[in-house]
Amino acid sequence: MTHMNEKTVKEMNVETGAASPIFGTVAADEGMPVSRFGDKPVAPQVAAEMIREYLSTEGNAHQNLCTFVQTYMEPEAVQLMSETLEKNAIDKDEYPMTADLENRCVAMLGNLWHADMAEQPMGTSTVGSSEACMLGGLGMLFRWKELAQKAGVEVYSSRRPNLVISSGYQVCWEKFCRYWDIEMRCVPMDEDHLTLNLDTVMDYVDEHTIGVVAILGITYTGRYDDVAGLDALLSEYNRKAAVPVRIHVDGASGAMVAPFIEPDLAWDFRLENVWSISTSGHKYGLVYPGIGWILWRSKEALPEDLIFWVSYLGGEEATMAINFSRSAAQIVGQYYVFMRNGFEGFAEIHQRTMDVAHYLVDEIKGMGIFKMLEEATEIPILCWRLADGVEKPWTLYDLDDRLRMHGWQIPAYPLPPNMEDVTCQRIVCRADLSMALAIKFVADMKAEIAHLDAARIVGGEGVGGADSKATHFDHSGR
Ligand SMILES: Cc1ncc(COP(=O)(O)O)c(C=O)c1O
Repeated sequence: MTHMNEKTVKEMNVETGAASPIFGTVAADEGMPVSRFGDKPVAPQVAAEMIREYLSTEGNAHQNLCTFVQTYMEPEAVQLMSETLEKNAIDKDEYPMTADLENRCVAMLGNLWHADMAEQPMGTSTVGSSEACMLGGLGMLFRWKELAQKAGVEVYSSRRPNLVISSGYQVCWEKFCRYWDIEMRCVPMDEDHLTLNLDTVMDYVDEHTIGVVAILGITYTGRYDDVAGLDALLSEYNRKAAVPVRIHVDGASGAMVAPFIEPDLAWDFRLENVWSISTSGHKYGLVYPGIGWILWRSKEALPEDLIFWVSYLGGEEATMAINFSRSAAQIVGQYYVFMRNGFEGFAEIHQRTMDVAHYLVDEIKGMGIFKMLEEATEIPILCWRLADGVEKPWTLYDLDDRLRMHGWQIPAYPLPPNMEDVTCQRIVCRADLSMALAIKFVADMKAEIAHLDAARIVGGEGVGGADSKATHFDHSGR
């Protein structure tokens, strides 16, 4: 017998979902909270399954060929990372062993990028390349202020300090310039200069230049700026300059590829004007998002103002990240990947990814209607546009749409200013794009081109109604 206001066990079970099948619960019936907290808790299995189901309707990460960001880690790494999720990376005194792993990663990257230990290189992990680039930019700004003041250059005049970079920059540099009131001087790209144009770059440099950013590689095409060529130009300039100008290498992707695939290419601390380098651990550093790294070549390269000291093992440890609290799991994951793969493992993974990229290049070229803008020469990225003279009743935006029906995400987009009339498509190959998947992709692409070619044209317009999608260049590049 129950009181009027007393609920039966069955009723309570229905409410909490404790005994009912997941999709038989009231919670499953009522749906998920959208704009306000639900009144009652929901059983964990029910909440987890409903969220999982909701997320399952979006794209599959392995077929997302527009992102550089890792979509595979070994189960051992995932397990290790899930065991360390609760550690706060900034609590160096409480988690000294985790802090030690971070220091080891910094030292290993310094070694990989040919830093001279005698110069006391320093560095830190970050949330990603964006934070690392901000820090690289701040390092340049603080150094410039100090040197410019000493050289008698007016620092607090109406002339803002400037940063020189190619127009193929990633949006983080625009953020940096806007946040810190820096004039962004973009060296235009054109079809003959798909990277930083060394013929004109020095026209943009003057005594208010805090530094030049070299990109390894450009987000849209994967091409590397000629860092050695830039270094030579700046060495010449610095011989007479009141304020020397140095290079920050934005190696978001390339800094974790070049050392393994092209070890003889000098783009790093082997060059005298490369004073800082940043990379994304979550791109070709093979860790799930988000982790990045920045290193300065020497004590002199990292202004004291950027360093804060926190207590560590009874002493003090330098921190220079912008962000404070975040999980240490990604740092642990990065150390796992470094230890597990070693140099040879990284080289094998990247070389195999390059082989898949070259297979795709050959196949897409063989279709006879595209001009390749990038053929995975440096990083495993390929990029193409419709070749001159090829008239099709469809655009790359239409092809992008059709490929999505097979789950492939390969967006079409316009190139940076000066070339915005050129629409291209890009594939970023990652370790989990196997040859088997690549073969399947080629078959799907051929079938969709045949479908578009055969589509009935109404009123002389393409099947998708022209370039109705992104018609402006956005610097995120993903
Ligand atoms: C050249 C370059 N710099 C910076 C970034 C920003 O990287 P993150 O997403 O790690 O912040 C990217 C991302 O694509 C990039 O390609």
